[in-house]
Amino acid sequence: MAQHYRITLLPGDGIGPEIMAVAVDVLKVVGEQLNITFEFTEALIGGAAIDATGEPLPAKTLEICRNSNAVLLAAIGGYKWDTLPRHLRPETGLLGLRAGLGLFANLRPATILPQLIDASSLKREVVEGVDIMVVRELTGGIYFGQPRGIFTTETGEKRGVNTMAYTEAEIDRIGRVAFEAARKRRKKLCSVDKSNVLEVSQLWRDRMTQLATEYPDVELSHLYVDNAAMQLLRAPKQFDTIVTGNLFGDILSDAAAMLTGSIGMLPSASLGEKEPGVFEPVHGSAPDIAGQDKANPLAQVLSAAMMLRYGLNQPTAADRIEQAVLKVLERGDRTGDIMSEGMNPLGCRAMGDALIQALSGS
Ligand code: IPM
Ligand code: MG
Repeated sequence: MAQHYRITLLPGDGIGPEIMAVAVDVLKVVGEQLNITFEFTEALIGGAAIDATGEPLPAKTLEICRNSNAVLLAAIGGYKWDTLPRHLRPETGLLGLRAGLGLFANLRPATILPQLIDASSLKREVVEGVDIMVVRELTGGIYFGQPRGIFTTETGEKRGVNTMAYTEAEIDRIGRVAFEAARKRRKKLCSVDKSNVLEVSQLWRDRMTQLATEYPDVELSHLYVDNAAMQLLRAPKQFDTIVTGNLFGDILSDAAAMLTGSIGMLPSASLGEKEPGVFEPVHGSAPDIAGQDKANPLAQVLSAAMMLRYGLNQPTAADRIEQAVLKVLERGDRTGDIMSEGMNPLGCRAMGDALIQALSGS
């Protein structure tokens, strides 16, 4: 029997529409091969939504997302909207989507592909074999804590305030996702905090330590965030799964991404208690190369694979897409961001065509 899924597409801004087009083509081909049908509905988010409706996350977009099995997002933002007030910024739309769908768990794998080792700015022996999963808390911490704002003090001076706060329940639910993820990997979990300074981190560490008793097969360790940043660059292979809060996860996932050479290769999954999850590349909208057919669509395509694996429970389809990506890289096909000597330079569309060929076994 054919399986049918409703997918919301949020192409967003910059290179978003170009890379999304490639991912959709790839999904269609894999769907045909495996008797899976997709009903795609496109909706507005970010700058594109601001231009069309005046707000970065129109209520209609959230409703379309809620009515779907999964959401595939490309990227948001651009110079044009950078000076708008905060509530009208593209980023606010993305944060609203995460909060609106209850997506508290963000999985950001950083795996170095042997074909791209020379694209990393670190030495081959340091990064060879790196395979890290960053589990970032996504709907709490300092991104959402109250009070927040820029207030005026009694002396008339302005004071900016944000609040880093986590409840036990928030820590436990992301902790469980991380322990489960580690269990499916190499059974090592490193929890990252700043408990030498912050109370919120002390609670975080206490809860993680407590949770570990439920997962005796997983080895839990703790690092302060500053040390974790250093260790990621010094000896990244010591890490398997990392769990951390919203802000630390934002920063460490970019650092982990760069170990692999190009942030243009990395997908992510944002999951809540139930459908739909949101699947998006870790990279941004790259306004400087938008519309020029230069973008690397592989992180978007790998995000579609994560959608199949984590959102729709279609691991065979996910495997096929990931294999096709490896195959084109093996053949030497490269977009500009991952180009190295002797390889075959391709634009975004041509990379899409190469993937379709690889999928079709030709
Ligand atoms: C990310 C981004 C976002 C974040 C921005 C665009 C709001 O940096 O997904 O990592 O800070 O979470
Ligand atoms: Mg970030």
